[in-house]
Amino acid sequence: MKKILFVASEGVPFIKTGGLADVVGSLPKYYDKRYFDARVILPKYMCIKEEMKSMMQYKTHFYMDFLGQDEYVGVLEAQYEGITYYFIDNEKYFNGLKPYSDNVVEELSKFVFFSKAALSILPVVDFRPDVVHCHDWQTAIIPVYLKERFAAGEFYQGMKSVMTIHNLKFQGIYDIKTVQRITGLDNSYFAPDKLAYFKDGNLLKGGLTYADAITTVSQTYAEEIKTAFYGEKLEGLLTARSNDLRGIVNGIDYDEYNPETDPYIVRKYNASNFRKEKIKNKRDLQKQLGLEENDKKMMIGIVSRLTDQKGMDLVSYIMDEMLSQDDIQLVVLGTGEEQYENMFRHFDWKYHGKVSANIYYSEELSHKVYAACDAFLMPSLFEPCGLSQLMSLRYGTIPIVRETGGLKDTVEPYNEYESKGTGFSFTNYNAHEMLATIRYAEKIYYDKKREWNKIVDRAMATDYSWRVSASKYQEMYDWLIG
Ligand code: ADP
Ligand code: GLC
Repeated sequence: MKKILFVASEGVPFIKTGGLADVVGSLPKYYDKRYFDARVILPKYMCIKEEMKSMMQYKTHFYMDFLGQDEYVGVLEAQYEGITYYFIDNEKYFNGLKPYSDNVVEELSKFVFFSKAALSILPVVDFRPDVVHCHDWQTAIIPVYLKERFAAGEFYQGMKSVMTIHNLKFQGIYDIKTVQRITGLDNSYFAPDKLAYFKDGNLLKGGLTYADAITTVSQTYAEEIKTAFYGEKLEGLLTARSNDLRGIVNGIDYDEYNPETDPYIVRKYNASNFRKEKIKNKRDLQKQLGLEENDKKMMIGIVSRLTDQKGMDLVSYIMDEMLSQDDIQLVVLGTGEEQYENMFRHFDWKYHGKVSANIYYSEELSHKVYAACDAFLMPSLFEPCGLSQLMSLRYGTIPIVRETGGLKDTVEPYNEYESKGTGFSFTNYNAHEMLATIRYAEKIYYDKKREWNKIVDRAMATDYSWRVSASKYQEMYDWLIG
């Protein structure tokens, strides 16, 4: 049995702020259990819902030296859908109303503590992974530690590490002195070919330097990050390591995101009856959100973090023009930068009955939007993979996307001459190019409804379950373990 350990800062159903949690909480379930024993370590944040906390059982605790103090490390365990989860407990580091804060030094300390604790609990829980699979900057110190302080321990010898980039934008950067103090690494690690990043220390750079293999969440993003535009100043390192870097596109949990069984939506449907049934979800949502109750209106959805990454500046640029001229409804669910939250609130007020801005987080409403809308807008500036467009495809809600990263790899542009494609896309990061694409989609929707429904047929026939991608991760583990 090959043992794989995921270490991550979030995972469904325990704690989620974005797609990382979806991946961490679903991918391990899809490994072949005859050959792989995959387990997950997460922080036990105070803000995890009581209902989830009640699933955890206290295992043990010990004290670990961290920043010159003896710190409490509690270990809890939970079983969920056949996967063993461990939780690291420490009330000082994992307090707060949200998993993350804006205080960089606090974040660095929290996640270096978490990473060190995650490696330290392994002999105690008697699980010796062949591969430690780290996700994003929060756990990027692990590959470094495995080659540094933990290398001396017999238990850790030969343990391989994988670093998965879900978002290269976030790297865990601060001045060298502080990063050195928090990580406890000696001077030699802060050379330009290691953790030094211009004048700062950079945790993700450490992970990318020391991991035995690197992955990211789509093939296009794996190529893009080797260029200056997307590389966040790590393109040189990523190019140098390109033999060890692979892009494996994300899947989604087809049990959880299934229009046929989804408990959140009023009318279940599938690929054969969506023509009659899907519309009932639109009626329900129009009513719930106070939009004009009209079957014929094309409804476009956005479920997103409201940030520049997600192309929200393009949306805000054409909002007035689009809403004053176009015959559509727009439903937004998201939180993020204040300017965008307020922008959507403003247009909800200005175009009442046509726009619904829901500036909060809701699992339930997100499923309703995926099911009810006709189209889904995701004009990202960059998108390592993106899961929302996969959820939309699954629900027969046609994605309108910018051709970047995983959006390019998963949405096939509609071609009316060949009757091909699962969505609409545009190339340049340009607000009017986006608007023209939205208008092209509107035209097909209103004038060629049968064509539109054929796009839905093709969208619902795509397979972005984990089936194929999980086997690619398994191949990589086999290759690493030998
Ligand atoms: P990212 O991880 O960059 O935010 P993804 O598309 O990979 O983008 O994943 C976003 C995930 O978060 C999806 O599961 C999406 O449904 C969910 N999500 C985003 N915003 C909200 C919200 N306000 N309420 C509920 N779910 C949300
Ligand atoms: C990040 C990316 C997103 C990706 C998700 C899961 O949050 O922004 O594109 O789908 O991670 O890998």
